[in-house]
Amino acid sequence: MRVLLICSSARGHAIADALKRSPESPDIIAMCKERNPGVEDLAETLVVDDIMNFQSALNIAKKYKPNFAFIGPEDPIGGGLSDALSAAGIPCVAPTKSLGRLESSKGFTRNLLRKHGIDASPKFRVFSSDQGSEMYKFIDQELEGAFVVKYDALKGGKGVKVSGEHLKNIDEGVAYARECIAECGSVVIEEKLIGVEFSLLSFASGKTTVDMPAVQDHKRAFNGDTGPNTGGMGTISDAGHSLPFLTTQDLARASEINRLTAEALLKECNAEYKGILYGGFIAVKDGVRLIEYNARFGDPEALNILPLLESDFVTICQAILTGELSDELVRFAHKATVCKYITPEGYPQNNDQRDAVVRFPALPNNARLFYGNIRRDGDGVLHLGSSRTAGIVGVGSTIAEAETLAESLCQRVEGPVRHRSDIGTEALLNERSTTMQRLRSAVHS
Ligand code: AMP
Ligand code: GLY
Repeated sequence: MRVLLICSSARGHAIADALKRSPESPDIIAMCKERNPGVEDLAETLVVDDIMNFQSALNIAKKYKPNFAFIGPEDPIGGGLSDALSAAGIPCVAPTKSLGRLESSKGFTRNLLRKHGIDASPKFRVFSSDQGSEMYKFIDQELEGAFVVKYDALKGGKGVKVSGEHLKNIDEGVAYARECIAECGSVVIEEKLIGVEFSLLSFASGKTTVDMPAVQDHKRAFNGDTGPNTGGMGTISDAGHSLPFLTTQDLARASEINRLTAEALLKECNAEYKGILYGGFIAVKDGVRLIEYNARFGDPEALNILPLLESDFVTICQAILTGELSDELVRFAHKATVCKYITPEGYPQNNDQRDAVVRFPALPNNARLFYGNIRRDGDGVLHLGSSRTAGIVGVGSTIAEAETLAESLCQRVEGPVRHRSDIGTEALLNERSTTMQRLRSAVHS
């Protein structure tokens, strides 16, 4: 068994680890944009190259003849690497370019849900020509000034601007919308939703979806959800596979939206979505809405989810490809996890600590460490890059137990680094639950 893994960062390390834990113990041929030390230790071969160089990926595939490929990040999926590898006879656990529009075009996704009667979107409109006054009127009259403007193509997680945060008034919103249209041809303008965000990722075979434990990301750079947005500073999951601030109905609805969306894609594109379907949701006063879809594992979400996988990841990948995916093939441990990212002190504002030495403590059995943007030198010493360094995951019977473990390990990391000490704490969880109770009770009063 041989798997081609196109990856970067700690998510790639977590995927490689899950593949390697399979009883099949596949040979991993990795193509990464950097020499990730975690992937390097697990892979038989690691090729460092631009992961958007599809010809190089095809050359590697031809040389090593993997049974299948797994694509980690969104850019090669959005660019059509799955199509290119499939055409060369390598089946891919990753959607085609057309199906991958679920992530690469926010307008496609909003229109897909509308067309197929999936009532999960906020009020929205997609504009593809510069209708300044129409946009102004829509925001002012229909959205009552609470709005979000979304670049309608991949932009490394930086294409969304929210009123009251990044956009001070409607004029700024319209100006950004115009910029989006000029750059990528269209823009989504939608209602700003109030609630608590969470992610529900599903394995998808085109015929069926099987859910993973729900996860919550923490995007802001600093404690108390302050500071600029980042790729994600840490993530939590609970032993019951839901989250403390969600109702049973909220989770069931998110699961249903994932299933209905996979069915809608099949009808719309006449092709099966095979890969990871990552729903970014928000629990609001009267249920759940979809914020966005991603066509891949989340980073850090994968760092929580994959260590909990008790069943064979290679078998799941194969079942995705053959269409035989079923609930019985997927079993997750009933444990809670807290992942905290260690980052350089200046992240995300500056990269002044780049190349500084970083040292990690020894890990107990119930903790995991996944390397991100980090370099190992010839003496085995680790050095910081400029982005997220490594995710430390605590596993426990409760979120509190997992948090205590992750936090104590993070505090023992040596180097000019930081992490968010509040992720997974009781105080932050209580705040989320209180927000949801307040929103729900306002509806019922
Ligand atoms: P996205 O790239 O679509 O995940 O958007 C990035 C972030 O923008 C999300 O995680 C939310 O915090 C925020 N966001 C996106 N859409 C909305 C919305 N309709 N209402 C409120 N916040 C949103
Ligand atoms: N953690 C958010 C993402 O992977 O998009």
